[in-house]
Amino acid sequence: MSSAGPQGLQAVPRELQDREAWLDPFDWYERMREAAPVRYDPERRTWDVFRYEDVKRVLNDDELFSADPQKADDFVEPEAPGEGLILDTMLFEDPPRHGELRGVVDEWFQPRTLADREPHFRELAGELLDDAVGPHGQMDVVADLAYPFPVTVIAELLGIPPSDRDRFKTWSNTIVEAASDEENADAFAERQQQTQMEMAQYFLEMIEDRREDPQDDLLSVIVTAESDAGGRLSREEALGMCILLLVAGNITTTNLIANAVRCFAEADGDLFDELRGDDRALTSAIEEVLRYRSPVQAMGRVATEDVTMRGETIEAGDRVIVWLGSANRDERQFEAADTFRPNRSPTQHLGFGHGTHYCLGAPLARLEAKVGLSALLDRIEHVRLTEAPLQPTRSSFIYGVESLPIRYDER
Ligand code: HEM
Repeated sequence: MSSAGPQGLQAVPRELQDREAWLDPFDWYERMREAAPVRYDPERRTWDVFRYEDVKRVLNDDELFSADPQKADDFVEPEAPGEGLILDTMLFEDPPRHGELRGVVDEWFQPRTLADREPHFRELAGELLDDAVGPHGQMDVVADLAYPFPVTVIAELLGIPPSDRDRFKTWSNTIVEAASDEENADAFAERQQQTQMEMAQYFLEMIEDRREDPQDDLLSVIVTAESDAGGRLSREEALGMCILLLVAGNITTTNLIANAVRCFAEADGDLFDELRGDDRALTSAIEEVLRYRSPVQAMGRVATEDVTMRGETIEAGDRVIVWLGSANRDERQFEAADTFRPNRSPTQHLGFGHGTHYCLGAPLARLEAKVGLSALLDRIEHVRLTEAPLQPTRSSFIYGVESLPIRYDER
């Protein structure tokens, strides 16, 4: 696997670089939690933090640990136009600007706002499954449901016309990909830059369109914030926000849904049967998937002052990676942490992060997972994974599989 990743997550440690290791990083995490819970990796010039308590501490302290990669001593300005847009977003801003940016779209991601759209989300999931499920008894959970569903939902919320959705899917995927073994680094970088520019150009046109003709969609909310008297957003920030909403919520939710099917199919007994029609049990099982196979395994921060953790001194300007996927398997926090327990009571997992940057889209992701999975449970039973070897995602910080073929009986 390549070391490419979004800003602040530039490098995968040597230990996880081959694809097999990325499918099962959990033993390595455990060894690190015990032997070197806070360690400096000179190759990546980065600190790694593995224990639950320490990860939470870093995420809780915006002053000591900035989310802005530009504060790192070794930060390199992106060269290509458009590539830096993501740096102007809430994800990489510290308070107080962070709160101002998040405030622009916050309302749209509240559970009560989303509840109105749930029936429509059910229809979308139903349509996808109408095409995929049949007497042939097999499907690829990723290609048939987990991938198209979240991208269609966010495209609708933003107000992207259905005819542009395929382009939209390709972009959202390219942005979080790492280079494949077959592609050299330059070709990969060029493809990434090309995508960034196409996306920026596309959103610029959409922004112009909404300025003239506002609709009931997120793009119009963003445009209004850009053009209102207070000038709450600059043009770059408005563009960055569109791109962030597109990329942050797709591949993550795709992997939540696919990881859930994988966990359910591997569980003892017939978990599909137990969860069918029981929203509360399904909701709790989804939380356990977020803990046990966290779609986002790592996040980046930069120390703003010298700080000591577990006897190690992290210096101001050093990059720090917090391993959410490791924190969520920490036995100090979770009993039988390496066991998937679908009815585990509230777990305080860190799958959506913690503190100021706690995932804005968490209510949407939870709703999509519930709607998508219950639509699937309604249509199929006796689900089995096939013998096909699983391939991990090509992203350097997202946990999941490229495809998940299953066999089932139609209900
Ligand atoms: C932030 C995970 C779905 C939008 C985050 C963070 C995590 C995360 C760990 C914290 C980043 C940090 O601390 O630096 C996930 C997972 C998802 C998911 C596991 C699905 C299972 C979504 C969706 C959206 C979204 C559906 C919206 C469409 C965002 C945004 C932020 C964020 C905008 C930045 C929040 C801030 O900086 O205040 N997400 N996410 N995410 N997520 Fe999600």
